[in-house]
Amino acid sequence: MVDNINYKKGIILAGGKGSRLWPITKIINKHLIPIYNKPMIFYPLATLMLAGIREILIITTKNDQLIFKEFFGNGEKLGLKIKYKMQINPIGIVDGIRISENFINNENIALILGDNFFHGSELIPKLKNASKSKLSTIFIHPVNDPSRYGIATLDDKNKIINLEEKPQKPESNLAITGLYFFDNSLISKSKDIFPSQRGEYEIVDILKSYLSSDKLNHQLLGRGTIWLDTGTNHSLNLASNYVKTLEDRNGLYIGCLEEISLLNGWINKNEIKKIALEYEGSEYGNYLENLIIKTI
Ligand code: DAU
Repeated sequence: MVDNINYKKGIILAGGKGSRLWPITKIINKHLIPIYNKPMIFYPLATLMLAGIREILIITTKNDQLIFKEFFGNGEKLGLKIKYKMQINPIGIVDGIRISENFINNENIALILGDNFFHGSELIPKLKNASKSKLSTIFIHPVNDPSRYGIATLDDKNKIINLEEKPQKPESNLAITGLYFFDNSLISKSKDIFPSQRGEYEIVDILKSYLSSDKLNHQLLGRGTIWLDTGTNHSLNLASNYVKTLEDRNGLYIGCLEEISLLNGWINKNEIKKIALEYEGSEYGNYLENLIIKTI
């Protein structure tokens, strides 16, 4: 059960062109391609649910919205409330925020990029810290290819002193992951952002605005956690292999939405039973069946 949280709403950004995964994403929306045995979007949705968030907005391209709606509906089966919004042009993460203004409604909001994969023992306590905090939080993770990401530089007192989007000469190896907890000044901040040189409304500019008013917390996801931006063939494959390895070894699924909802007390075993029947004949269905008889 997740209680006392200051963050009750979350957005999943699942639009974009997915050009780094062409030709796959010429045919299908990136967030529907599999990471091992589940569609990619299950994993960021699972992350929001693990933070105790039940009210979700899924942002997709115009052409893909129907597929998401047909699958998730209003979210009731998962104990969630899911809404949808179209992004007409993929002109940046900040544009995704602006078009969510009515959903955000001046409340705190968690935002996750639809291709971000998180797992590990440190994750849940850190998510809970962020969702209970009144401040805004970013999650940073060491990487060996920092030029691909937004990068945070810390001083020797662990304070953020610089934020930079995809620097050619990175000052640090701490990537800013695609999971953000923003306080209710987000919408007003988003209106002050101008396009970058590559023509996108960059999330790093919003983060800089929080930083300059001393309102940006960070959580370091260290050795006990894996974070992958699964938007390339290589990282997609890494994520699939990771999920397969862990699930094969310990029999516990990563990103099983029904299981998280059950553990959060949002749905019960009878409801799991009904969903298991819909998946009858699949490994996922068998896993859900086993949840019903499991006592711990
Ligand atoms: O993954 C972490 C990185 O994500 C951060 O370190 C960077 O600071 C941040 O800018 C972002 O960089 P990417 O280049 O990886 O972002 P990308 O354009 O790949 O988009 C990330 C996700 O957001 C992807 O699943 C598609 C979705 N998206 C993106 C844009 C630009 C949209 O739905 N609409 C958009 O307009």
